[in-house]
Amino acid sequence: MAKPQFTKLPTHIAFIIDGNGRWAKKRGLPRTAGHKAGIDRLKQIVYEAFDLGIKCVSVYCFSTENWNRPEKEVNYLRNLFIKLLNGKYFDFEGRKIRLNVMGDYTKFGQEVSDGVVRTLHNTSKYDEHILNLGINYGSRDELAKAFNDMQKDGLTNISPDDITNYLYTKDLPPLDLCVRTSGEIRLSNFMLYQVAYAELYFTSTFWPDFNKRELYKALTDFASRKRRYGAIKEDKE
Ligand code: IPE
Ligand code: IPE
Ligand code: MG
Repeated sequence: MAKPQFTKLPTHIAFIIDGNGRWAKKRGLPRTAGHKAGIDRLKQIVYEAFDLGIKCVSVYCFSTENWNRPEKEVNYLRNLFIKLLNGKYFDFEGRKIRLNVMGDYTKFGQEVSDGVVRTLHNTSKYDEHILNLGINYGSRDELAKAFNDMQKDGLTNISPDDITNYLYTKDLPPLDLCVRTSGEIRLSNFMLYQVAYAELYFTSTFWPDFNKRELYKALTDFASRKRRYGAIKEDKE
């Protein structure tokens, strides 16, 4: 399939990769098979986004609420994260991808923690592409942490820019587009502050079925949006 040309692209796109379980159920497979298909798809879509010229891709991998799932499923996801951090899915070095992580990943134990610390360190020199993963991420926790950290640092008279600078995304470009798959029309505690002026795109496609064509559809839709930022008429971009 030829790569389409877009009149404008997001600099920073985020994915709420939902529907792995239902994708598997529909096929009579265990939910874990959906997560496996989901991470294979993730690799393809993240690489495609980078190849198109999108700089930063954020991904909701595991929420602070996902601990309510059965231990078996959580363990399966933990193992996928370990593999990902060991370079099984993304060639961080070869592709010059900088990792950024949102959330208290230490709750996943030593192997995940070591993998995150090592990969953050090894990839911090890259600036071309950024992969930002939400691992035990919740926007409400992120905001509470930001306010606690600002208090510790003695900040008073807090401004919106101060808040931005204390979020996990402080080093990333502003979020332009947030995509959620699987038909749910909600944010489920994802990047609530960052999404303030992002465009939202919802599709009923389950994440493992979200192929390049689906990505192009989302990007074509984004290109047609008029981002007014409260002003009148002119697209401010
Ligand atoms: C999203 O798919 C992946 C994670 C939350 C880790 P789900 O596992 O939520 O799939 P559904 O929503 O149950 O189909
Ligand atoms: C959001 O999906 C979390 C991730 C995609 C990691 P959920 O499937 O957990 O969200 P809800 O429960 O439908 O809101
Ligand atoms: Mg879900």
